[in-house]
Amino acid sequence: MNAREPIGVIGAGWVGLVTAACFSELGHEVYVRDIIPEKIESLARGEVPIFEPGLSEMLERNSERLHYTTDMGDLLPNAQLLFCCVDTPPSYSGDADLSRVNRVVQELGDSADHALIMKSTVPVGTGRSIRRNANGIGYVSNPEFLKEGSAVHDFMNPDRVVVGFDEGDYGDRVVALYEPLDAPIIRTDVASAEMIKLASNAFLATKISFINEIANVSEELGANVDEVSRGMGLDARIGPQFLRAGLGWGGSCFPKDVTALKQLAGNSGYHFQLLTAVIEVNELQKRRAIGKLQKHLGTLVGKEIALLGVAFKPNTDDIREATALVLAGRLQSEGANVRAYDPVATGRAADLLRGTHIAESAMEAIDGADAVVLVTEWPEFRELDWAGEVKQKLARPLVVDGRNFLDRELMMRAGYTYEGVGR
Ligand code: UGA
Repeated sequence: MNAREPIGVIGAGWVGLVTAACFSELGHEVYVRDIIPEKIESLARGEVPIFEPGLSEMLERNSERLHYTTDMGDLLPNAQLLFCCVDTPPSYSGDADLSRVNRVVQELGDSADHALIMKSTVPVGTGRSIRRNANGIGYVSNPEFLKEGSAVHDFMNPDRVVVGFDEGDYGDRVVALYEPLDAPIIRTDVASAEMIKLASNAFLATKISFINEIANVSEELGANVDEVSRGMGLDARIGPQFLRAGLGWGGSCFPKDVTALKQLAGNSGYHFQLLTAVIEVNELQKRRAIGKLQKHLGTLVGKEIALLGVAFKPNTDDIREATALVLAGRLQSEGANVRAYDPVATGRAADLLRGTHIAESAMEAIDGADAVVLVTEWPEFRELDWAGEVKQKLARPLVVDGRNFLDRELMMRAGYTYEGVGR
């Protein structure tokens, strides 16, 4: 089979669409299947249901090579390598819910001419169990390491590609797909590939929880965590990334994957102590902004609090496990009135942010507020006229900067009571 072999993508969510777009950009015919007819219809019309920079342009550019369907029967005759990109959300127990993956495996049945290439994040051992239960189908673990907001760039410029396989030549064929990207390719066994994914996310979350604790201690001891991160990050063994202190990590991946790894260890009889602490530190970190508000406002009953940013990070409309949701809930239970604004995510947030006023603009959220909490570091929040218009509109000049995003000196000079994180 040549390097431009056709591929199938099962699941037209965020991972599936980025995978489909990027392989079509690399010249492959791509057959995309999703069970939701409306999603497939809108993709076929050229409408992309998610916000991800560069994605819709790439899909549009390669539309001739992209084929959308709801029918698995359209994929099987056209492609042998089938990327599984369905979601594996957390279940009530904290274990990953594999029902969608299992449905895909069932649908594929005994297609001995096909291989399932697992991109969905699954527990270690999933590949082995699928192989045990499915007759003949090939299996390759090929975890994704894409970040929301830069997923297209990350796919085309990966730090590494991990291809885990135990037998057969499908692994080599998957490796061949990625060769044009000129990235290091790790060939390994399936279980190790599965663990690389979970361990990478757990390690990054650990790094953030670590710097957040350093920030909290720095507040007590008079150090500035931004300076500390800079000094630590230049050590090549530590590295500068994921050392930004803030209100903790959220999103659709870290909370789910860190909990899943902890549960997976627990199920195998091992108590993963470190991850237990990493999760707890993160939960407490999200709430620290409340204490800072109380320090200056006393009781929060009847206070008007503006949350700037709802998305779990900038450049995405994803609000899953977003800090703003926790903050809004806590503030309301303290009796505060909450207004929230986000440049792209408030539409999605309206359902989850019950009782919160969803503002149409940052200035609307700020108008008359007793305090502003900067929750997500959207660039436009830095551009606000803090010294002028914002200060005039606020009932009190109190800003809790949950991401150390604003210029502290400027804010102090403009007369704000400014609370950062570990500054
Ligand atoms: C994360 C990983 O970075 C990807 O490699 C992985 O593929 C993805 O999960 C996944 O498993 O699918 P993502 O969830 O898009 O990507 O977001 P990140 O950019 O990693 O940010 C995660 C959270 O950490 C955000 O809430 C962010 O605000 C927070 N963060 C990040 C910090 O608080 N400090 C930092 O220094 C960096």
